[in-house]
Amino acid sequence: MSSARKILVTSALPYANGSIHLGHLLEYIQTDIWVRFQKQRGHMCSYVCADDAHGTAIMLRAELEGITSQQLIDNVNAEHRADFAKFLVNFDNYYSTHSEENREFSELIYKRLREKGHIATRSITQMYDPDKGMFLADRFIKGTCPKCKAEDQYGDNCEACGATYSPAELIDPKSAISGATPVEKDSEHYFFKLPDFQEMLEQWTQSGTLHEQIANKLKEWLEVGLQEWDISRDAPYFGFEIPDAPGKYFYVWLDAPIGYMASFKNLCDRRDDLEFDDYWKEGSDAELYHFIGKDIINFHALFWPAMLEGSNFRKPTAVNAHGFLTVNGQKMSKSRGTFIKAQTYAEFLNPEYLRYYFAAKLTSRPEDLDLNLEDFTARVNSDLIGKVVNIASRCAGFVKKSGGKLSDNCAEQAMLDEAVALGDQIAEHFENREFGRAIRLIMEIADKANQYIADKAPWALAKEEGKEQEVLDICSVGINLFRQLVTYLAPVLPDLSAKAAEFLNLDNLDWDSRKELLLNHEIQKFKPLMTRIESDKIEAMIEASKEVLAEEEKLKQGPATTGPLADDPISPEIEFDDFAKLDLRVATITEANHVKGADKLIQLTLDLGGETRNVFAGIKSAYKPEDLVGRQTVMVANLKPRKMRFGMSEGMVMAAGPGGEEIFLLTPDEGAVNGMRVK
Ligand code: MSP
Ligand code: ZN
Repeated sequence: MSSARKILVTSALPYANGSIHLGHLLEYIQTDIWVRFQKQRGHMCSYVCADDAHGTAIMLRAELEGITSQQLIDNVNAEHRADFAKFLVNFDNYYSTHSEENREFSELIYKRLREKGHIATRSITQMYDPDKGMFLADRFIKGTCPKCKAEDQYGDNCEACGATYSPAELIDPKSAISGATPVEKDSEHYFFKLPDFQEMLEQWTQSGTLHEQIANKLKEWLEVGLQEWDISRDAPYFGFEIPDAPGKYFYVWLDAPIGYMASFKNLCDRRDDLEFDDYWKEGSDAELYHFIGKDIINFHALFWPAMLEGSNFRKPTAVNAHGFLTVNGQKMSKSRGTFIKAQTYAEFLNPEYLRYYFAAKLTSRPEDLDLNLEDFTARVNSDLIGKVVNIASRCAGFVKKSGGKLSDNCAEQAMLDEAVALGDQIAEHFENREFGRAIRLIMEIADKANQYIADKAPWALAKEEGKEQEVLDICSVGINLFRQLVTYLAPVLPDLSAKAAEFLNLDNLDWDSRKELLLNHEIQKFKPLMTRIESDKIEAMIEASKEVLAEEEKLKQGPATTGPLADDPISPEIEFDDFAKLDLRVATITEANHVKGADKLIQLTLDLGGETRNVFAGIKSAYKPEDLVGRQTVMVANLKPRKMRFGMSEGMVMAAGPGGEEIFLLTPDEGAVNGMRVK
């Protein structure tokens, strides 16, 4: 093999305000396969990542949960690490952008850019929340669309009619954070002068660093011309303060990619065999690859190389962008239960199934990839269980019976030579991120191996006398082919391959070790390597995903369900008139029933003193219908009737608590009469 390469690989840093889902995993699995492949080939390859811990969204989420930003990012970091471990994503370092190393590099890069005149400052006007005392990004402003008059639209575009506008044009704009009416306010901002790098970027983006499709897209943008990039945000902001600019913070996207460097620096500090400068200094001969999704290309292929160039660091060797994950042909959907979190998946299914399916469908192109759950089941069961594992399980018993040692000669040299030779092509496909092609070749070997065993039928021969050696020869060919297969699949299926290596009595599956056949070689007892996917597990996962996300939606709604009102900093103050609009009444539950097809709802019939109402209440996790009948409670009587899948809901009963088993229905003191107004 050619001499060992020095390679540094990154995946995009996931935001620290949410869970890892299957869409994210497409990226981390793709990267992990590529890294494992490089290591298996004997290269010096390091894989680093981190949580992207800064920004307004994280600050607000922490407030909503009533914890500090630091606590939030620590919690999420632990969760992310656990998720990645389950999916066998093997980072050499998983860090956080909220680290000392990252602060230092961010300051260093900024200062170098400033020294060279690449930073500008000027005042800009923005929407400001006077109650909360902070500037509002467009997505934190809501109001009525100036075009179609749809209510409750975001600050930059209308979901109803598709119009785009500036937040100042919204009718009756409100801060989504406090409910206050935003005002316009000026503030000094810091800009990175991206146009200074126009020429370098025109050249760099067309020099083989990007997939052709992306290079072409960027060419269009570059022809239009680059704009200066606003890299500052005003306090309050969770991030790093800009040197010599009190109250100004680096915009999260400035320090996020620098987090790649910081995570690697943190790794170098505990490893003797890695030198930071070898990988990052200008002119370094190490390779640097960023794996990202196609949504964040401008940050990685324009801003980032410009920042590196302007601060005397090396630029990436390539930026590898993948497309988006769809499930059953559609965008992942919370209501369909196809927005599946890593944790939820792992509760029901083996992570290696997903790694295999993604590998089988991945290409080097930035195209979307569909996880079709039926195809997923069929493919994994047929390829992995039906073909790969089957070879070993058919042959192992006969080898054991003849003493546990493989034959000392290879009965099908040509067949094995071919399988070994195919390894070079398979390697080329892995190298080029054409994983789907690699898998196709691997499965061709599996098909031939199965065909061979079926033709030779060692189970039939075993019944004849004097055929022991022939049976052993056949099964030894089978086991040797199986060994080729698990070597090639090792980057994709590290667990299965490790178990197979144990069975084969091999201490590693290095790519080149496959060339030496296993002759006169002892093997271990065969244990089942993988079980089939059962489709009821898939259904259960979908159902569980619906529930997980319903719980989260509730959390987001704030005061009534998140906990004691006083803890909720974002619940806006209301006028007495707002309160007076509520028509709260005492009512008795006269009937309570399960609702077919709804796992959270109970149907209630309420007696309001002469008038009855039908209400669907989401209290099934805490109450049995039979325990509710006859109870008095308080209801919102003037809530606009809502048509639900199960019928019309004409009001709402009132309860306290965070949800789940902790729901506490309100009950008036004895003596209250149905229909009495609650004031
Ligand atoms: N924090 C930024 C990245 C900073 S990198 C210096 C970010 N985070 S993210 O959590 O939104 O996304 C992390 C990665 O996952 C991105 O590369 C993104 O493209 C990818 N994906 C997120 N959802 C995805 C799908 N549904 N499908 C495929 N990839 C997806 O962006
Ligand atoms: Zn509109």
